[in-house]
Amino acid sequence: KAKSWEKKSDKKIERAAVLGAGIMGGGIAYQSASRGVPLRMKDVARKGLDVGLAEANKLLTKRVERKKMTPSEMGDVLNRIEPMLSYDGFDDTDIVVEAVVENPEVKRKVLAEVEQAVNADTVLTSNTSTISISWLAEALQRPENFCGMHFFNPVPVMPLVEVIRGEKTSDRAIARTVAYANAMGKKPIVVKDCPGFLVNRVLFPYFAGFSLLVRDGMDYQRIDKVMETWGWPMGPAYLLDVVGLDTAVHAEKVMAKGFPDRMQRDYQSAIEALYEAERLGQKNGKGFYDYQ
Ligand code: CAA
Ligand code: NAD
Repeated sequence: KAKSWEKKSDKKIERAAVLGAGIMGGGIAYQSASRGVPLRMKDVARKGLDVGLAEANKLLTKRVERKKMTPSEMGDVLNRIEPMLSYDGFDDTDIVVEAVVENPEVKRKVLAEVEQAVNADTVLTSNTSTISISWLAEALQRPENFCGMHFFNPVPVMPLVEVIRGEKTSDRAIARTVAYANAMGKKPIVVKDCPGFLVNRVLFPYFAGFSLLVRDGMDYQRIDKVMETWGWPMGPAYLLDVVGLDTAVHAEKVMAKGFPDRMQRDYQSAIEALYEAERLGQKNGKGFYDYQ
């Protein structure tokens, strides 16, 4: 059956932007630039930009070493990423992906800010893991231009992108976001809005099940080993280190509020304990495991 948004794509994506140059923002920038779509990568901290660019550099260097790319092509890809600390020039942007920390208030503030810097046509999207798109849209003057664009980590490898339709999202915004995901070589699916959308409604109850096993005394390393032996690429503790314990804690809160009957708990989970001990996972070298 034809979808209402299918014929609504209004233009080829010529320039994009990503807000936040962390694990996800850096990956989105790499992927977009590698597929030929130039973009601005904005962060609030120079350090964030350096991390995002260093990751892109590392991935591209590997491709050059394997002779899958020439040094000159690598230079072209890097030139397509423009690191920025301001919104200068954002008015020629076709689509923006917000990928800042998973904090509802920070996201609303950043979205309202960028809406002032873009033109009336620009589609704004959020890479939020869990926060309702309709709720985020309340911060905007043009909620019809806004939807979710949820990538998975690591962005260069994971094919799926959830495109999330909020209450006021237009078909045009969905179509442009789907077109951008396709241009990036991803497989977009359009899903309805609710906390966690589709994939994280499955993943976060899995993490909650893991937390219960740890509370009941099972060793997290053993759980990981069992899941790997079962055939998964990694167990939940290692995956939480990949995701980031800060992101996981914020996302858990949103899920517990959205689905209190399924996600509420009355004890401190291992995820929360590690976060409070500032063990954020691979991003700061220590989480369930040590990486230094
Ligand atoms: N960045 C870029 N490329 C990477 C990478 C990374 N972090 N990790 C691996 N790769 C590339 C490798 O370079 C390799 O490329 P080539 O084929 O060109 O050599 C390819 O991926 C396969 O890598 P490996 O041989 O090392 O294979 P692997 O068995 O380790 O598989 C993986 C890699 C598919 C990423 C696997 O580790 C995996 O499935 N991990 C789980 C990822 C996952 O579940 N992500 C979801 C997190 S939750 C989320 O994202 C949602 C949220 O809102 C929180
Ligand atoms: P991260 O902590 O690695 O990066 C966040 C970046 O945002 C940092 O560089 C920080 O300096 C920057 N930032 C903070 N406030 C900002 C602002 N006002 N303007 C611009 N930049 C700002 O986080 P991450 O893991 O990349 O997560 C980013 C988003 O992607 C979150 O919403 C998260 O839920 C979502 N997400 C994460 C994963 C994952 O596995 N890590 C997967 C899918 C989606």
